[in-house]
Amino acid sequence: MCGIIGYTGYSEAKGILLKGLKSLEYRGYDSAGIAVYHPDFKECLVSKCKGRVKNLESKTSDIKGTSGIGHTRWATHGGVTDSNSHPHKFGEVTLVHNGIIENYETIKNTLNIADKLKSQTDSEIAAALIDKCFKGDPCKAICDAVKKLTGTYAFAVMFDTVPNTIFAVRNVSPIVCCQNDNGAYIASDIMAIGEYSDKYFVLPEFSVAKIDKNGFEITDFNGNPVYAEELTVDWDIKNSGKCGYPFYMEKEIMEQPSAIEKTINSHIKDGLPDFTCDGVDDSVFRDCKSVSIIACGTAMHAGLIGKSLIERECSVPVSVYMASEFIYCDPILSSDTLVICVSQSGETIDTLEALKYAKKNGSVTLSIVNVRGSSIARESDYVIYTDAGPEIAVASTKAYTTQVSVFYLITAKMAYLRECLNYEGVTSFISELKEIPNAVSYVLENRDKMRLLSNILLTAEHTFMIGRGMDYPSLLEASLKLKEISYIHSEAFASGELKHGTIALITDETPVIALMTQQYLASKQISNIREVQSRGANMLVVARRSLVSKEFSNVFELPDLEDEFMPIPSVVALQLLAYYVSADKGLDVDKPRNLAKVVTVE
Ligand code: M6R
Repeated sequence: MCGIIGYTGYSEAKGILLKGLKSLEYRGYDSAGIAVYHPDFKECLVSKCKGRVKNLESKTSDIKGTSGIGHTRWATHGGVTDSNSHPHKFGEVTLVHNGIIENYETIKNTLNIADKLKSQTDSEIAAALIDKCFKGDPCKAICDAVKKLTGTYAFAVMFDTVPNTIFAVRNVSPIVCCQNDNGAYIASDIMAIGEYSDKYFVLPEFSVAKIDKNGFEITDFNGNPVYAEELTVDWDIKNSGKCGYPFYMEKEIMEQPSAIEKTINSHIKDGLPDFTCDGVDDSVFRDCKSVSIIACGTAMHAGLIGKSLIERECSVPVSVYMASEFIYCDPILSSDTLVICVSQSGETIDTLEALKYAKKNGSVTLSIVNVRGSSIARESDYVIYTDAGPEIAVASTKAYTTQVSVFYLITAKMAYLRECLNYEGVTSFISELKEIPNAVSYVLENRDKMRLLSNILLTAEHTFMIGRGMDYPSLLEASLKLKEISYIHSEAFASGELKHGTIALITDETPVIALMTQQYLASKQISNIREVQSRGANMLVVARRSLVSKEFSNVFELPDLEDEFMPIPSVVALQLLAYYVSADKGLDVDKPRNLAKVVTVE
């Protein structure tokens, strides 16, 4: 949460910082600000305000200079106000922060600075502490200060008496760095600076970088040099805009057939699932006695599909944990447990902490991650990357379907290695898997139909989603999608559970979405639909072609695949539903209220 940017070099910094902040806005959009070292005034001038980066642009006329830092905020400490916006200036230190300082109150009291503070943030305390530690050597001041901090942080720091130099420091929260002939750049995410170079590096944890126009000097907190591995930007930066779509979410929904295909094809060799390019040893899948899947939000819903697949095909017990609860629920872990962490960003703090806990307890850890070089990817014993490409919209779409695709591949591999599927079985599983991109394309070609059907929800305040078997986790995902971008209260239920209480809420003002893709459960699901219909609910049925019945009036038809392979096309149809409701309500689909794309606070 929160996005950081920094630049020092030969060009005016303001434009570079504002442009970078626009790419980082998905990390938080409560406020934005920049600070640039002004060569005439010989100090950093700050411009900041609540609201989006576009509000900030008109307030930066005084800003001039070739070195600066910027920030886009997701509020944690202190409300959404101009004064709580970053950068924070204390004494001669100007700072932006991503993360949380847990002991800020103690530090505030020790420094005795309550009357000098201009904000309610923990970040301003960090600026004050660095200022207090500064006796002429900026790196030493930063190192001395961070040794007193507990919590997580990525800071970009400037000093009024150290012109044209910025400093970056990292504990957990990410910072990436790159340079070209025009100067050096840092950001929370390569997306903000990837256009300046196709080579970059991730600032190693617990290190500080001194950055000037000639590049980077990195040391640990004791002043020893630190090596940072060079990485290559692995997506086409030209494809990173909206490409004519009104919202990133629509673009990302439409990209799913190719993202899924790429993820699947890069893990198949001679018709068999193959993880050699990821360096995952067969023993990881063959020898584990149980699997624990840990993730948050949408990524956790992908894990629920993974559980169904692995248990069904491999008879290996699988538990799925919300990462935020994992370390507090005394999980049973051993060296026989394969822990699979799932994360688009690879930076979700709860998932990262759970991963570290599992490692400490002796489990083998594997992560399914989209962002290369991210913290979760680096911390895991093994990593399988999804090929979703950059996902910008806060609501996750292509990350989810590619994560589920990886679970199909893992299931196939595990089932084959454990002789639960023979050669014919596994190759036929893979052939069906390869049909998914076409099925998704079919759903997308029929999106206008979903747009019409979505009218049923436009004025609704509440909705319920019902389904059985694998349709239930798909609906958990669909329901989350609807809630987060349309602000309609939605609950997903296993259809048979509704009549144990919740059916009391069904009236003729409650639209109900029913998903019906599981052949073996169809007759039971039809009965459950009738139960709800007879209480007056206005129904929208999303059903596979072979199960569509004339008795349903609002129907979206899905193509037929084997039951096990229906979750991806189903969710894509329901992503469209959420998208159209949000867009037709005139909401900001890509940046829903109160949310951020990357959740780096617990
Ligand atoms: O980056 P991650 O996959 O770890 O993020 C996990 C969740 O925060 C994320 O999936 C969230 O639920 C999305 N906004 C849902 O669309």
